Amino acid sequence: MKKDLSIDFLGVHCENPFFLSSSPVCNNAEMIAKAFDAGWAGIFYKTVGINGMDECSPRFDIAAKEDTPWTGFKNMEQISEWSLEQNVAEIKKLKQQYPTKVIGVSIMGSNEEEWITLTKAVTAAGADILELNFSCPQMTSHAMGSDVGQSPELVRKYTRAVVENTHLPVVAKMTPNISKMEDPAIAAAEGGAHGISAINTIKSICNIDLDHLTGQPVVNGKSAISGYSGKAVKPIALRFITQLAQCEELNSQQLSGIGGIETWQDALEFILLGCRNVQVTTAVMQYGYRIVEDMISGLSHFMDERGVNKLEELVGLAVQNIIPAEDLDRSYKIIPEINYEKCVGCGRCYLSCYDGAHQAIAWNSQTRKPEILVDHCVGCHLCLNVCPVYECITPGHIVFKEGRDANRTEEDIVKQLVYL
Ligand SMILES: Cc1cc2nc3c(=O)[nH]c(=O)nc-3n(C[C@H](O)[C@H](O)[C@H](O)COP(=O)(O)O)c2cc1C
Ligand code: SF4
Ligand code: SF4
Repeated sequence: MKKDLSIDFLGVHCENPFFLSSSPVCNNAEMIAKAFDAGWAGIFYKTVGINGMDECSPRFDIAAKEDTPWTGFKNMEQISEWSLEQNVAEIKKLKQQYPTKVIGVSIMGSNEEEWITLTKAVTAAGADILELNFSCPQMTSHAMGSDVGQSPELVRKYTRAVVENTHLPVVAKMTPNISKMEDPAIAAAEGGAHGISAINTIKSICNIDLDHLTGQPVVNGKSAISGYSGKAVKPIALRFITQLAQCEELNSQQLSGIGGIETWQDALEFILLGCRNVQVTTAVMQYGYRIVEDMISGLSHFMDERGVNKLEELVGLAVQNIIPAEDLDRSYKIIPEINYEKCVGCGRCYLSCYDGAHQAIAWNSQTRKPEILVDHCVGCHLCLNVCPVYECITPGHIVFKEGRDANRTEEDIVKQLVYL
């Protein structure tokens, strides 16, 4: 199923919000052509620098859990291995072949002069949007990447240099290797940026090699701290996006969300938090360009079911419902309810509640089923999260803490829930 998923991003018409993020998934014109044919609306071309990079081998590692590989992905790659001239030729070719697709190009210099040279070259090549890479965490030059992105002064200065030398919309790509992303993002806005994209990868050591006594991947007996991406980073990305969306000084900026997006639901979560555009790398490295077909169809079905005509209507709907921890209602608990028709008696809820929560589940050895002890239960919902059977344990009734009902009933609480 296909619905109209089009949305403008920085004044550029995009047939849908799905973009490839700058990385090896968009290294050259031939591969990007394949991605466009699969349905991606646009790309942010692999970061172009003045000179090609000198890379190490191997350069990837994964974090796995039980039988789930690729919960997270670590890479030690820098920006494009190609020269500026080679990349400009690819971008020109691509724009001629695909005039209606959106070609964002990521650039990174090591001083003002380089930023200006790159800006002029890529603008002349036919790019639609410029993305400024202030965020690669494993550059071999400290005058580039996340070291620059952690300095609001440099972000402001380089953004201004770019904006003054192009007519194109400019997006600043932020590093998550910082506690307050708003500071460099505001500096980019002051420098004239039109949008903010986040996140780039998170500094990590994914695994220690127990034989070689270094991190993985092992490069001639050594390893290095470098960027982590994929499903595991989505919660961190969503946190940063929320803070950007809630920051008043950034009201003028449009947001592009990146980090752990694999499915249409992941993408929609970023849109509900204020992104008009989403970008993907790790899931494409694992599954290929074709994942965009499911994204288009899933989002189309969702909009159809919920009576949403324009994607724009969904942008930012969840932002107001993320509030400071001190403002959360702490006056009640929700006691879980077990559906005994579905319960297979595996005992995982009993075990987790005993060893990891509040000993509020008794084991009935006659029925071989768990029973909730309401007086002990604190409503933490660990049991819901460990039960392997879909909707076997669900949120049950609400119990107010002593003296905290403030004349409200369970219905009053339920009434406040908002649905789309
Ligand atoms: C192998 C690899 C290379 C990357 N290279 C770049 C790059 O050249 N420029 C850039 O801005 N981001 C680069 N990134 C970061 C991604 O664009 C993206 O911000 C990050 O991986 C999070 O998204 P994901 O979880 O969908 O992968 C790279 C990521 C990976 C995994
Ligand atoms: S909600 Fe928490 S305390 Fe209550 S039964 Fe479940 S795990 Fe135990
Ligand atoms: S975890 Fe779920 S299926 Fe297993 S005993 Fe508890 S309620 Fe039953």
